[in-house]
Amino acid sequence: MTINLGILISGRGSNMDAILGAIKSGRIKNTKPSVVISNKPDAAGLKIASEKYGVPAKVVPADGLKGWDYDQKVVAVLQAHGVTPQSGLVCLAGFMRIISPEFVRQYKMRILNIHPALLPSFPGLHAQKQALDYGVKVTGCTVHFVDEGVDSGPVILQKAVPVMEGDDEEALSARILEQEHQLYPEAVRLFCEGRIKVQGRRVLVT
Ligand code: GRF
Repeated sequence: MTINLGILISGRGSNMDAILGAIKSGRIKNTKPSVVISNKPDAAGLKIASEKYGVPAKVVPADGLKGWDYDQKVVAVLQAHGVTPQSGLVCLAGFMRIISPEFVRQYKMRILNIHPALLPSFPGLHAQKQALDYGVKVTGCTVHFVDEGVDSGPVILQKAVPVMEGDDEEALSARILEQEHQLYPEAVRLFCEGRIKVQGRRVLVT
């Protein structure tokens, strides 16, 4: 069965680009990139989605709406493009909003996120700066299922990235981002091939 994919972004959209590129090249199969949604009208990723990949790119502005009041507008756009809780997949890719419990419950275990640290270390904003400030020697990135907490859902894949002595936030972020672009498409591929099994907090790749 083809999985209809919806990607939510707020900005640059480089992870979105990596996922769409992997679909276009045939690395990810059984998947239709159905819609890209941004809460920000000026998100650079919108143009990449529509012009480079011909994927419908929609803006759902927040207009001060919070929680489910906002999310139900996003869900309506997802559903209109066939990204349903039964057969869809939603990828958060730099989507700078915390999604509501109602959204999470509707799309149970069908929403993925990428975080630029090795969770559960350094959740939330500025994960790369948190890692530098703490002084860890290794950080990385994590693709995980979204649950009702912040960056707290079951971990699907992780990749370690070394912290170098001369690193500033920009240099470290760039080194992590390179790995994000490998890891996120790989997790989407495994999901779309039906190879991910969740047992409590543990995710098994079969
Ligand atoms: C990435 O670092 C991702 O890990 C985090 O937000 C950033 C999004 O970058 N969640 P991009 O929009 O995919 O380029």
